[in-house]
Amino acid sequence: MRSSFLQLSALAAVATAYHWPSPKFDALEALLYERSPEPAGPFLEAPSLVGLLNKCQPSSTGVSVAAQWIRFAYHDMATHNVDDGTGGLDASLYFERDRDENVGDGMTATVFELIDFPDKYVSKSDVEAVGVVLSVAECGGPTIPFRMGRIDATGPGPQGVPKPEQDIATHIESFRKQGFTQSEMISLVACGHTFGGVRSPDFPEIVPPPADGSELISNFDTTPKFDNLVVTQYLDSTTQNPLAVNSNKTVISDFRVFSSDKNVTMKRLAQPNVFAKTCQDLLERMINTVPKGVKLSEVIKPLPVKVGGVQLSVTQNAMRLKAMLRLATANPKRKITMFWQSRDGKSCTRTACSATFVGTNDTTTVLTRRAGMNPQKYWFDTPVNATLSASKFWFEVDEQNGKKPIVLDNEGTGYELQDRVLFDTRRTKSDFSEEIFSFVTTVVVAIRDDITPSRVYATAMWRKGDVKHQTFDLHLAEDIAPTAGYVFYKGDAVGSSDFSIDIFSVVNGKTFVEDNRRTEFLEFS
Ligand code: HEM
Ligand SMILES: *[C@@H]1O[C@H](CO)[C@@H](O)[C@H](O)[C@H]1NC(C)=O
Ligand SMILES: *[C@@H]1O[C@H](CO)[C@@H](O)[C@H](O)[C@H]1NC(C)=O
Ligand SMILES: *[C@@H]1O[C@H](CO)[C@@H](O)[C@H](O)[C@H]1NC(C)=O
Ligand SMILES: *[C@@H]1O[C@H](CO)[C@@H](O)[C@H](O)[C@H]1NC(C)=O
Repeated sequence: MRSSFLQLSALAAVATAYHWPSPKFDALEALLYERSPEPAGPFLEAPSLVGLLNKCQPSSTGVSVAAQWIRFAYHDMATHNVDDGTGGLDASLYFERDRDENVGDGMTATVFELIDFPDKYVSKSDVEAVGVVLSVAECGGPTIPFRMGRIDATGPGPQGVPKPEQDIATHIESFRKQGFTQSEMISLVACGHTFGGVRSPDFPEIVPPPADGSELISNFDTTPKFDNLVVTQYLDSTTQNPLAVNSNKTVISDFRVFSSDKNVTMKRLAQPNVFAKTCQDLLERMINTVPKGVKLSEVIKPLPVKVGGVQLSVTQNAMRLKAMLRLATANPKRKITMFWQSRDGKSCTRTACSATFVGTNDTTTVLTRRAGMNPQKYWFDTPVNATLSASKFWFEVDEQNGKKPIVLDNEGTGYELQDRVLFDTRRTKSDFSEEIFSFVTTVVVAIRDDITPSRVYATAMWRKGDVKHQTFDLHLAEDIAPTAGYVFYKGDAVGSSDFSIDIFSVVNGKTFVEDNRRTEFLEFS
């Protein structure tokens, strides 16, 4: 117990550079290091990115999600041009899907898997890059450091993804333009082709479709894992890699690439530690290949203390405060109290304005375990006296080890709340409108009745793509009875059930914001 106290306080000290909220950092940190409770925990959460990888286990038809994500990221990045600094990992691939160099249902599947995660803070290309980091880790490969800040292209870029029928000189030049030497080309192809394989519907001239009309995936090596079997099986001639051994000699690009330096690089990669280290470096360079002018952040490490899922809301004659606290270690004896202070900053007593957690979930993943953490999420969901309301909250963590509880208060400021405009998670609903033949999401917010805003409006970003940033006004909702010192406003976002919305309340020239609320994965009651 003593060690767990020391560990937690040491970790809390490390967190000083970070201040909540940092929405972009918080979102990417969660994609990298959290998974949602499975099965659904005490709170409805968006599905986790890492969960989609199914622990690197291919589907019953042999499809590897990890392989699809890595190929997707490579094809996006492969049109980088070192000579003029254009292209790179910039999600231009979303506009380039109809090209024959990007053939495959695997890419369509990837689009549908990744599309749930970008929002106004998180670019599609950052999600792709996180996808590579998670895929490699879940499949037992090295930890690739992740930096955020990729910017999405607004249209297609030039062509130029390497194709199997091209000759070796073309491939060497293609990789030079991507920023890789010939030896690095050999390694990067081997690093990519340790996952997945070639599919008969995509490349019938490489993997002939079975006579019974079924679809065949011919894998590059004999495991779905990250390992160097693609190298060793090539060197000892046991390989079944259809790009290395094939009756059609036009398409054996892996053979031409791997043997292009007389097998010198491949022989080095036959040592597992050399393979792992080389792939760690090259895959990191692959995801960090971005158009010139794009600046990536520092490496994102898992936070030792994290707050998320914060929502102050209005219920019948009361308010509720929901929040999640994530700590880096487990301790079943641990007691955590959340405290909050009233709107006026002085009316809460320690006993009146405090609560303990209502649920806990282990959110350990491969990457957190490697960082020496087995993070636990603690969920809080407490009534708040509506007369007093809440302006900030903080936590005291008692490890039950005879030491003083540790205070987690966001480096002294507390975790601050605004209570002027509150998203109504229970009343915001989506419905299909036959009238306009489209989904309509009615956004409901609670507005404090002691201040009449000059305008309440929202911007909605359709997270799945096309409909960007519609702005609409919210008006007093006559059909919702005022309660707990709040009146309700509502307005419609059109075209989807799944928006990221920002709600603005303008009071005396000052604007209060409910930032980046999702209309999907709402609480149902
Ligand atoms: C000369 C360069 C390359 C050529 C000609 C090439 C060619 C191919 C082909 C033809 C497929 C089969 C795709 C399908 O059937 O849908 C494939 C799959 C794949 N490639 Fe490459 N590739 C190259 C380099 C790379 C690189 C550098 C990476 C990543 C670092 C990569 C990652 C993958 C992955 C992971 C798959 C499996 C996809 C799946 O199973 O869904 N490739 N590649
Ligand atoms: C071999 O592959 C090439 C390139 O895809 C194709 O054009 C050719 O028809 C194939 N040859 C045979 C015999 O299948
Ligand atoms: C490289 O290794 C492969 C597989 O063992 C072999 O077929 C090929 O002849 C070798 N090439 C050279 C130049 O040694
Ligand atoms: C998550 O928390 C809920 C409620 O505490 C619990 O029922 C569920 O089993 C937890 N799931 C995991 C994976 O720990
Ligand atoms: C809420 O706080 C006010 C002011 O302190 C108090 O008068 C009232 O009794 C409280 N309401 C409840 C339900 O505790």
